[in-house]
Amino acid sequence: MNGLLLEQAPVETAGAACSLDHYLVLPDDTMDARIAAARERLGTDAVILGHHYQRDEVIRFADFTGDSYKLSKAAAESSAKYMVFCGVHFMAETADILAQPWQQVVLPDLNAGCSMADMAEIGQVEDCWESLERAGAVAGDGMIPLTYMNSAANIKAFCGERGGLVCTSSNARAAFEWTYRRAGRILFLPDQHLGRNTAFAMGIPLSEMVVWDPYQINGGVTPERLRAARIVLWKGHCSVHQRFLPEHVDRIRREHKGMQVVVHPECRWEVCQKADALGSTERIIDLIERAPEGSSFAVGTEIHLVNRLEKRFAPLGKRVVTLDESGCLCTTMYRISPQHLAWTLENLIAGHVVNRIRVENDVKHWARVALDRMLEIGN
Ligand code: 13P
Ligand code: SF4
Repeated sequence: MNGLLLEQAPVETAGAACSLDHYLVLPDDTMDARIAAARERLGTDAVILGHHYQRDEVIRFADFTGDSYKLSKAAAESSAKYMVFCGVHFMAETADILAQPWQQVVLPDLNAGCSMADMAEIGQVEDCWESLERAGAVAGDGMIPLTYMNSAANIKAFCGERGGLVCTSSNARAAFEWTYRRAGRILFLPDQHLGRNTAFAMGIPLSEMVVWDPYQINGGVTPERLRAARIVLWKGHCSVHQRFLPEHVDRIRREHKGMQVVVHPECRWEVCQKADALGSTERIIDLIERAPEGSSFAVGTEIHLVNRLEKRFAPLGKRVVTLDESGCLCTTMYRISPQHLAWTLENLIAGHVVNRIRVENDVKHWARVALDRMLEIGN
């Protein structure tokens, strides 16, 4: 980006807040120059963080790209006044929790949520904990709540306040080990699949795991089973990753000899068992990067990332295809459009912080404790 670009595409803001409606009618291909010019003008005042599932038209403007862990670290270490988070709501909330008081976090479209995070609401989690206490599953050698990053700030705070922490898909195993050193049992929220995959890889048999269904009385589990379980898995899932099936792996094995199957650990246990490797989005990229020329991969994760990997690695002699031929899209990540990004940046230039994400101070305190414990573990 340079000054020339600025001259070619002047930022059309003169102090007044620009309405989003004016942007949404503009074609995608007119956005590039405006975003670049606005980005240039904001300089070090702003940082754009982009999750790997963002579309190309958006992620190409990110100063930092990464998985949830890497982006939370980038947010914690950033010195920019504005952090523009091209990702989903829980990621922007996390950035706000880790930010300094003088920093402001912006989510270009407030509708960019995460259906999995929405599957655990604080009232339900509090009810669950009370039932676990009544059943005698919290006493004895103890139970600690541990939440996946894909959860609301108040769920993170709930865990922090009870001696627990946050994990991402890249450090779930380390977080589980940390927790089991302090308690005999874990309540894992909200992704049953990541919880099951991680616990199983640590040698915990499926028979020692129970699923808590927040829509059933007492989670649909007897007090005896709750007391005997090593892990209570919240009945949540990612609608994108749950679509991958063991049959998809079988098809790849049949039709593409030698192709490696790499999936995100939000996939079902049956799929993960058949895969060659599991990993966070960053780890999946790293694995393909390190593979020798001639390697081929069927990847079980969001389609924008898979398509980008396919394009990036084809000239290097590596083949990347999607595990499921129909390709799974994260519709909420997709909500961050170039128009939303341009609108956000141009408003910042005009002095208007639109779509600011602000976590309340009382929630922030314990959520920060839970996140700091995760950052201490690393990944
Ligand atoms: P990563 O931390 O692996 O990027 O995963 C985030 C996510 O939401 C996957 O669905
Ligand atoms: Fe949430 Fe799934 Fe989208 Fe990740 S891919 S943000 S878990 S809905």
